[in-house]
Parts: sequence; structure tokens; C-alpha cells
Amino acid sequence: MKLEGDKLREIIDLIEPIKDPEIGISIVKLKMVESIEKDGETLKVNIKLTVPGCPLSSTIEKDIKSALGEKGYGNVEVNFGFMTKDELEKIKNIVRDEKIEMPQSIERYEKKSIKKIIAVYSAKGGVGKSTVVKLLAQTAFSMGYKVGVLDCDISGPSIASLFGVKERAYADDAGKILPVVKDGIPLMTVDMLTDFEAIIWRGPLVSSAIKQMYNDTKWGNLDLLFLDLPPGTSDAPITVFQSIPVDGVVVITTPQELSNVIGKKSLVVAKTLNIPVIGLIKNMGYFVCAHCGEKNEINNMEASMDLPVLAELPFITDNNKDMKLDDKILADLQNAVEKIAK
Ligand SMILES: Nc1ncnc2c1ncn2[C@@H]1O[C@H](COP(=O)(O)OP(=O)(O)O)[C@@H](O)[C@H]1O
Ligand SMILES: [Mg+2]
Repeated sequence: MKLEGDKLREIIDLIEPIKDPEIGISIVKLKMVESIEKDGETLKVNIKLTVPGCPLSSTIEKDIKSALGEKGYGNVEVNFGFMTKDELEKIKNIVRDEKIEMPQSIERYEKKSIKKIIAVYSAKGGVGKSTVVKLLAQTAFSMGYKVGVLDCDISGPSIASLFGVKERAYADDAGKILPVVKDGIPLMTVDMLTDFEAIIWRGPLVSSAIKQMYNDTKWGNLDLLFLDLPPGTSDAPITVFQSIPVDGVVVITTPQELSNVIGKKSLVVAKTLNIPVIGLIKNMGYFVCAHCGEKNEINNMEASMDLPVLAELPFITDNNKDMKLDDKILADLQNAVEKIAK
């Protein structure tokens, strides 16, 4: 019989302090406890593991038995199943929210042969940060700049899929990582590193992943390196700001009020760290009617921030989803690149 209500709560409270030995977060919080059943005198605890055949399952079993044993539950059986892909995805988010830690001491890396390092940042996810990084990089490349892109979003990397690359990066004889080059633009992101799953699961060791990707990559001579930063005002973007010698920040906002409010927060982060904010790119602020070409504002963004607007990008509808950018958008993007590269 499955336990419910207070009875279930009581057991859950007892096993709450038990952490997944590898991830370091409570198994309850990680939603690894599938159900708890009472079968005669036996208490059956059904656990879903993150990795099939997890060698640490015996540790979890031992911990559960001892936690319950102390409270008089002598007859405990622990059964193991596995999480589905969807469940794993959810866990990654929990891990991301919980685990991102500020390293004790942050190493600041050298400038290398890169003229300008530009961080593209938004306090909120899903506002088009990665999309804008791609557009800026491609525009700058078409203008003759030598450009690279570094995806600093360790738990939600999207540069590889945005640029349509599946290749992994390889190291040369000297141990330097050769970035994957797409249409002339060297790219680096965690999913190009062979041990990227491991990076996620050992807890996002942001600083070591950033170190590997920024420091150990053979970028060559670049005019501009765009950083796709992790969203949020947590330690993850701050770690990037503190370890990579960023020259300027470009902030992305959308019309939503919320994103403006959070956008302000991102300015505070940049200001606190003393990094110049170059300006704002307003994304998805208007759409152009596919039939009559009329420009429709989605929301009034005027009230946003007291910052120069580098570009305004429309909501790109299905009709031009292949990002066929009209002259106005291209000119806006070129304008933005000029201000950024200046
Ligand atoms: N200007 C735009 N018009 C239409 N869709 C967009 C635009 N910018 C971004 N998107 C879409 O919004 C989603 C989030 O964009 P993404 O660049 O991944 O955001 P972020 O990096 O901030 O999380 C993606 O599906 C992307 O295709
Ligand atoms: Mg992104």
C-alpha cells in the first residue's frame, strides 16, 4: 500500500537530509523518491536513480536504511529504478538553481590575442541572448572582423545547436583545444567537450569549465570574442565576469515588464563588477506584418533603461524564421557591431 499524507510526510522528513552522493543535493529535492509503500511489516522505498547502474546506489540504500533504522523502522527495502529523459532535464534545472557556487578564489585569465571581449547578458533566460550572440557574430564576420563565440552557459548551452554544429572539439599535441569553426567563426561550448555530461553532473563547476573553454582554447587572433553568458544574477554569470577579462557588456531585453525590471538588476551586477555596459539590444519588440509590411510595436519599451540602444530586433515570425534579415535589421546590427567594436 502506497503511503500518503502524514505517514508519507513523516518518512520523507526522515530521508530528506540524505544527499545524492555525487550531486550533493537531497534525494528528496532531486525528486528521486518515487514512492514509499508499506507491505506488511516492510517499508519499501522506491528510488529513481539519475544514472542507470549508478555505483553509488549502495550508499543511498545504506543511508536510507540507517536514517529510518534510527527511528525504529527496521524492516526497510530500497528498490531502484531510473529517471526518464524528461525527469533528468528537470533535475538539471534543480542542480543549476541549487548548486552554482562561488569559487573561493577566482583566477583572472589573461587577455590573450583577443582585442575585445564582449559579454552578452540578460538577467532572464529566453529573451534571445543566444540568438543575438549569433546574429552579432555573423554580422561582425560579414563586416570583416575576426570573431569568435564562447558559450559560457554551462547548464543550458545552446550555441552548438544554434550554429548547427555537432562536432566535438579536439585537443592538439600541446593540449590546446581546437574550437569548431563554423562559417569562419570559431565556437566553443561545453557540449563540444567530451566530458560535458560529467561537468553537469559533478555540479556545474562553472569556473573549471570556463577555464577550460576560455583559457585552453586556441582562439588565434580575434578582433571580437562574444560571450553568451548564463542568465541570472547568480554566481554563474558573476564567475564569468570575474574570471574573463571582459571589455564590455551588451544587455538584452524584451518588452515584458519583468524583463526590464530584471534587466536593471543585470546593470547592477555589471556596475558592481566595474564592467562598462555598452548598451541595450531590444529583442522581439515589434513585428512586421507579413502582408502589409506595417510595423507593430508589441509593447512600449521606452520606459526601459537609461542606456544607449544598440539595435532593435523584431519578433521574427515563421515567415522569415530562416532569419532572412531585411536591410533595416542588418543595418541596425551593423550599427551595433560598430559601437561594440569601437
Ligand atoms: N527576435 C526573435 N524573434 C522570434 N523568436 C526569437 C527571437 N529571438 C529569439 N527568439 C526565440 O526565442 C527563444 C529563446 O531564444 P534564445 O536566444 O535561446 O534565448 P536565451 O539565450 O536568452 O535563453 C528561441 O526559441 C529563439 O528562437
Ligand atoms: Mg541562451
